[in-house]
Amino acid sequence: KHVAVLMGGWSSEREVSLSSGTACARALEGQGYRVTPVDVQPDIATVLSALRPDVAFNALHGPAGEDGTIQGLLEILKIPYTHSGVLASALAMHKERAKTIMRAAGVSVPEGRVVNRHEAAKSHPLAPPYVVKPIAEGSSMGVIIVREGRSHPPQELARPDWTYGDEVLVETYIPGRELTCAVMGDRALGVIEIKPATGEWYDFDAKYAEGGSIHVLPAEIKPNVYQRVQELSLTAHQALGCRGVSRADLRYDDTPGGTGALVVLEVNTQPGMTQTSLVPEIAAHAGFSFGELVQWMVEDATL
Ligand code: DAL
Ligand code: MG
Repeated sequence: KHVAVLMGGWSSEREVSLSSGTACARALEGQGYRVTPVDVQPDIATVLSALRPDVAFNALHGPAGEDGTIQGLLEILKIPYTHSGVLASALAMHKERAKTIMRAAGVSVPEGRVVNRHEAAKSHPLAPPYVVKPIAEGSSMGVIIVREGRSHPPQELARPDWTYGDEVLVETYIPGRELTCAVMGDRALGVIEIKPATGEWYDFDAKYAEGGSIHVLPAEIKPNVYQRVQELSLTAHQALGCRGVSRADLRYDDTPGGTGALVVLEVNTQPGMTQTSLVPEIAAHAGFSFGELVQWMVEDATL
């Protein structure tokens, strides 16, 4: 089979995608596929029409790669592709819409609302602590955590060079632990607890710097909680209509006097596939090498 590995693109996660794509292309070659790496540019329709691969391996992250648009193009070109389709991609990428769907499926999600960034820079939209997120970004790009007791709202929201849109999502900060769960088809593969090694939270540097975070796999939580995380992740994957592999990010408030709640922050339909990424690590623990994982994705795309 001839597989085109789509990577790069022009989102703020371009570099992450190049890393994911390079790792996947190498692994697919190792599994015996004929591989063409494709750095996605605005002429992608022309490139794919000429190339006509048997399968497109989607290693893109962020807008234009994860939000249903490239998926729509691949549908029109009748090229099978890995990961989620048009609707699930668009829904999952929009953090606010995704929460509506997940809540309706019985999954707890953070309380919050959408506000104008200039308003949020003038006065606190919620009582601190709270989190400000771009509605449709990944890798913690543009995320601001406003700590308890902070008097001023985040001024960076008013900057002219803010590139993440005028509408932002503000959510109550959920204390406790950071968990993530990989889903592969119709089953959850396992749960990692992430502990930031240097910074205060799992920000961009903690995600991609060597040693930037500590991954505890399997997460050291009670077996019934572990099981519940897997159930919630699978429910969220199915409620959004995801296909192939996805990764749910959760907070678990087990602080003394805390709620004990498991809250799903989001589902990533194009989870990172870099050397420090979570899904390949969870898959390995479940018995799938990196090569077997990407092979499963390609074969699943053509079912
Ligand atoms: N957005 C990054 C790539 C992730 O979810 O892993
Ligand atoms: Mg994400």
